[in-house]
Amino acid sequence: MKEVNNNNNIIIPDITTIKFLFISGIISIIAGIASCGDGTTPGTPTDNTASISSDRYEGIPDTGLLPHNDSGNTIRYGQQLLLNTAYYIGPDGIKGHYLGNKMNCTNCHLDAGTRPYGFNFFETYKRYPQYRGREDRILTIAERVNNCIERPHSGTPMPADSDEMKAIVAYMKWVSENVDSEKYKGHIELQLPERAADPVAGAKIYVAQCASCHGSHGDGLWNSDSSTYVYPPLWGPQSYQAGSSLHRIVIAARFIKANMPHKIATWLKPALTDDEAVDVAAFINNDAENTRPHKNDNSIADYPNINVKPVDFQDPPFADTFTAAQHKFGPWQPIVSYHEAHNMKVIY
Ligand code: HEC
Ligand code: HEC
Repeated sequence: MKEVNNNNNIIIPDITTIKFLFISGIISIIAGIASCGDGTTPGTPTDNTASISSDRYEGIPDTGLLPHNDSGNTIRYGQQLLLNTAYYIGPDGIKGHYLGNKMNCTNCHLDAGTRPYGFNFFETYKRYPQYRGREDRILTIAERVNNCIERPHSGTPMPADSDEMKAIVAYMKWVSENVDSEKYKGHIELQLPERAADPVAGAKIYVAQCASCHGSHGDGLWNSDSSTYVYPPLWGPQSYQAGSSLHRIVIAARFIKANMPHKIATWLKPALTDDEAVDVAAFINNDAENTRPHKNDNSIADYPNINVKPVDFQDPPFADTFTAAQHKFGPWQPIVSYHEAHNMKVIY
């Protein structure tokens, strides 16, 4: 028996539940010890287990239907790692301490990377090894996973030959083989405003439509034993790092448009207008107001080749004549036009 708490339900445990959790905790520890023997089915968290949402995208087959052999078990474990990342490889993880915070991959890669326009992994496996501008070199898929472990998760890289990395990669391969990757890949379309993004207008939207879950200080809401979040943080020391993709306003706005407020907006029926999504993304990512962790090692510059810097990346130097403020908050259209006119790359 397992206590499953979807992210949107807050369970305040009564004494019976606490006893249950205690006993099931012991059972899972025993199960964990037992399973170490075969190395295929590590224990699962018993409290606040993140799961795939009930209105999941139907284009993806169910991991439950996979055979109970090594390959099926590995794929299922990969999915569990994306759903309950902090439990397995967080700061107090049972399988290693790689993440620096207690967010889960699925907080951004929604439904373990299977939600249309929710930073899904529909075609990820097929695209690696791939050149990445931020590092200015070709990365394997394991290195790209480690990218997210280091930033946004403020962690340290996980060995490429670890069971956990192999399982995550096996799961991504399975997703890419079982979905029509031409559909719903990448980002939802969003019309860039002709003006600069407005963090003051964004703050009002935040208070009205986001703070009830993510908190008035953006620090989210812990689960009952503070092992992970019911609602993940959007800024502050436990949140995603500066320089990670979500820190870019255009990327964040597209994700918000397709997915937030949670369970209200969907990619088929966004709740915010394009301008509202941009403004609220600008408020969340406004460093003058909201702080977040920075990478430890500043000796390695992001985008050492400035010609491949995305137009909404905020840190200079730039290959064009626009200010850091305009790269950060827009208006981006003049930058896009400038890049096009000068035969430069246009990435955003
Ligand atoms: C705070 C949000 C956030 C979290 C948490 C997060 N990621 Fe990411 N990840 C992103 C964003 C944003 C991108 C870039 C997506 C894009 O540009 O389409 C990305 C990209 C990736 C990619 C490359 C996808 C592709 O198709 O090229 C991989 C692989 C990845 N993440 C793995 C992970 C794993 C594994 C975890 C958990 C250990 C994780 N991420 C946690 C936000 C996040
Ligand atoms: C009903 C609660 C709820 C509301 C309201 C809500 N969110 Fe979320 N949000 C969530 C949950 C839950 C997740 C993680 C999803 C998951 O793990 O499946 C999330 C994830 C996110 C993420 C990516 C993860 C992170 O922490 O960085 C961003 C960005 C975000 N929300 C922004 C917003 C914005 C902006 C609004 C308001 C327009 C909003 N949310 C409203 C519950 C909510």
